[in-house]
Amino acid sequence: MTPYVADPVYLNGRFLPLAEAGISPLDRGFLYGDGVYEVIPVYGRRLFRLPHHFARLDASLGSIHLLNPLSLKAWQAIFARLVESIPAEDQSIYLQVTRGAAPRDHAFPKETTPTVFAYAAPLKYPEAAQLRDGVGAITVPDIRWLRCDIKAIALLPNVLMRQQAAEAGAAEAILVRDGIATEGSASNIFAVIDNTLVTPPKGPFILPGVTRDLVLELARAHQIPCAERALRADELFRASELMLSSSTKELLPITRVDDKAIGTGQPGPLHLRLHALYQDYKRDFRAGRVD
Ligand code: PDD
Repeated sequence: MTPYVADPVYLNGRFLPLAEAGISPLDRGFLYGDGVYEVIPVYGRRLFRLPHHFARLDASLGSIHLLNPLSLKAWQAIFARLVESIPAEDQSIYLQVTRGAAPRDHAFPKETTPTVFAYAAPLKYPEAAQLRDGVGAITVPDIRWLRCDIKAIALLPNVLMRQQAAEAGAAEAILVRDGIATEGSASNIFAVIDNTLVTPPKGPFILPGVTRDLVLELARAHQIPCAERALRADELFRASELMLSSSTKELLPITRVDDKAIGTGQPGPLHLRLHALYQDYKRDFRAGRVD
């Protein structure tokens, strides 16, 4: 069986087989979830929207009072080596930075070296049936904290909410805070209401998704009416279309929520259009026509 994570992986300045990559049990990522991460898609061996992921990484690190331990150039050298070690043209890069290993104490240690980990894996595309028929979602109370804009590795609430969706036979959980639908457990959400593409605004309650921004960019460039505004949970059910976006799922139609059909119960015309625009953009990216 092909391992999901390809060797070598990068850990703290070295490239080594996954089986030999070990971290201290005192790593604050392990003990506290004290770290941040990114997932970057790779198409045709090029890192997609790298400046956007890098800017978000810097923002996440800044929010937890860590400096980026590596320059963009140094990260790029690591990514290049990881990407070239896999035969697949399309991959995803996972990277994680934690505050490092130190004797257990909640406050930051005086001196510690961040732990830096990264690996590449062949990209797992959404299944064709998910694109053709759409996926189901459930609504769940958003049990997370007040800094969901930080791409923190502490994902226990997301794990629990996604598991709840999985147990209900759904692909995603749509999170609801004070009657407002914020995002998915690992995705951003879009609704089509009165022919306008609506997505919740950036702020402390959502992760500023790189895919979300690209979808909005493509929609605006093609004169599709867009609104970044709060989306009431009850509006989900009167939307003609719902979609979720993420780096690995791209743009997927949500056709059922809490077992109620959305719109016609089939993927809608705006999803079809935006998905095609997204694929065109990827094609241009692979060919080096866009950055
Ligand atoms: N998740 N919101 C949450 C809570 C997420 O975890 C993600 C991504 C997104 C979408 O962000 P982007 O478009 O930049 O991928 C929104 C990644 C893919 C993950 O945790 O695997």
